[in-house]
Amino acid sequence: MQMTRDEIYRSRREFFNNHAEMWLDMWYKDRATGRYDKHGMDFERLFSLVPLKPGDHVLDVGCGTGVLVPFILQRITTKGMLYELDFADRMLETNRQLHKEENIRFVLADAESAALAKASCDSVVCFSCFPHFDDKAKAMINLSGILKPGGTFVVSHFDSSEGINKHHESCHAVMHDRLPDQSVMRDLLKAVSLTIDLFIDEPGFYCIIATK
Ligand SMILES: C[S@@+](CC[C@H](N)C(=O)[O-])C[C@H]1O[C@@H](n2cnc3c(N)ncnc32)[C@H](O)[C@@H]1O
Repeated sequence: MQMTRDEIYRSRREFFNNHAEMWLDMWYKDRATGRYDKHGMDFERLFSLVPLKPGDHVLDVGCGTGVLVPFILQRITTKGMLYELDFADRMLETNRQLHKEENIRFVLADAESAALAKASCDSVVCFSCFPHFDDKAKAMINLSGILKPGGTFVVSHFDSSEGINKHHESCHAVMHDRLPDQSVMRDLLKAVSLTIDLFIDEPGFYCIIATK
């Protein structure tokens, strides 16, 4: 029997909740060294492209257990503010246990409806989460509204769109979650007046940088 959109949404959120405690081990731990730096070079590449500076306010959408936290805090410093947003409470709770810095606010909300102040963030980063948004156009409207004029919008993965979509197809809970084709992504960004500065979709790395 086919699942309804609502059932798909709930089973996706349950999947992420059920994997919260092991998330960092699953994706970021280098088994040989035991350190959580398996994608160190990829993160350096990503953050060389995102123009973060001391004092910035940044929204990390679908933050999970907070793998981006150290990279963002290092750049925005204690003068900045980081919003860690996720719709899965156990992901957010694990994140909160790992990151005690005073300039982090944890937000349990859906990207489509999160009620952060309009035009309050210098950057909105969607790392490894965009395919999971149920209504991508609605999420774009909400997230771009949170961005300041001149702010930076980022969508990134450490694989190509083809690789990401293949990976999701093999996992029941997220098998419907797709990173749209480049033309659809361009239309989604254009519809909310974001200008694309960079669009990389290559084996091992996907990154869109756009300006409001
Ligand atoms: C593949 S995980 C990536 C987590 C983290 N960015 C990382 O790379 O480790 C996707 C995350 O997005 C969150 N997520 C999915 N759909 C969401 C939505 N509509 N609103 C907010 N968070 C969402 C999930 O709960 C999960 O934590």
